[in-house]
Amino acid sequence: MTVRWSMRPSTYDRMMRGGNQRRYYGNSGYFNFGYWGAGAKSQREASEALVDQMVARIANKTGRILDVACGLGASTKRLTQTYAPEMITGINISDAQIADARALAPSCTFQVMNATKLDFPHDHFDAVICIEGACHFDTRDKFLKEAHRVLKPGGSLAMSDMLFPITILSDFGQVPRANLLPSIAEYCARLAAAGFVSIEVTDATDDCLGGFRANLARWPGAERRAGRMNLSRSFATAVICKLLAAFFGWSCQTYLLVSARKPS
Ligand SMILES: C[S@@+](CC[C@H](N)C(=O)[O-])C[C@H]1O[C@@H](n2cnc3c(N)ncnc32)[C@H](O)[C@@H]1O
Repeated sequence: MTVRWSMRPSTYDRMMRGGNQRRYYGNSGYFNFGYWGAGAKSQREASEALVDQMVARIANKTGRILDVACGLGASTKRLTQTYAPEMITGINISDAQIADARALAPSCTFQVMNATKLDFPHDHFDAVICIEGACHFDTRDKFLKEAHRVLKPGGSLAMSDMLFPITILSDFGQVPRANLLPSIAEYCARLAAAGFVSIEVTDATDDCLGGFRANLARWPGAERRAGRMNLSRSFATAVICKLLAAFFGWSCQTYLLVSARKPS
């Protein structure tokens, strides 16, 4: 199989599997902005709440579910609160991340796979979720068609995704140009073009990106006060975290919570 990726799997691995990142996420295995609108007190809680937001958008919470771009497997593991493990499959483009995911959620099924070329039969899953992956796929539209193909009639798609106003991320290879959409209306049109109905797209920028940026900026100070980081390290980390928080605010225009269904 010829696989083309907009960003090499090793790049994701470096970003997601480093010590600082794991520490920020409380060694939970998440790597997303999270959902802060329900009162999360830590990044881990916010990331869990984001998975719960996905599950809440699934019409019938039974049958088989696919977690696309499952990262290190934390979202897949969280799904076991709602689904039996044998009904849950996670896929990711990176072998290393899939190995981590298997260790984190051994009762679920994981496969290395490109989201734009899903190696599953037609009409196979009752639900597909995808957290902060679709904007990176080459392309999002191809993934939407694949998600539609592998869903059973009436099945649900739930995603969190982003709109970017600028092409700089595209130039660095993180977001293919074809995925830079100007508006929620255009985003809905792409879902409809892939065959989806009952499309609902919510602007959750404050509840997701806003909460993440605030938490990232205060995290080094909290670590220092808790005695987990010394003064010089917390100062250096604070500078990096504040820069990152500013970068995310500048580069990401709108954070979306998305649901849609394949027609029955
Ligand atoms: C921001 S992370 C989100 C990870 C996970 N969903 C979470 O919430 O913790 C984006 C993920 O997309 C994966 N990814 C990127 N391109 C992919 C592709 N074409 N197919 C499958 N996974 C991909 C990366 O390896 C990475 O794990």
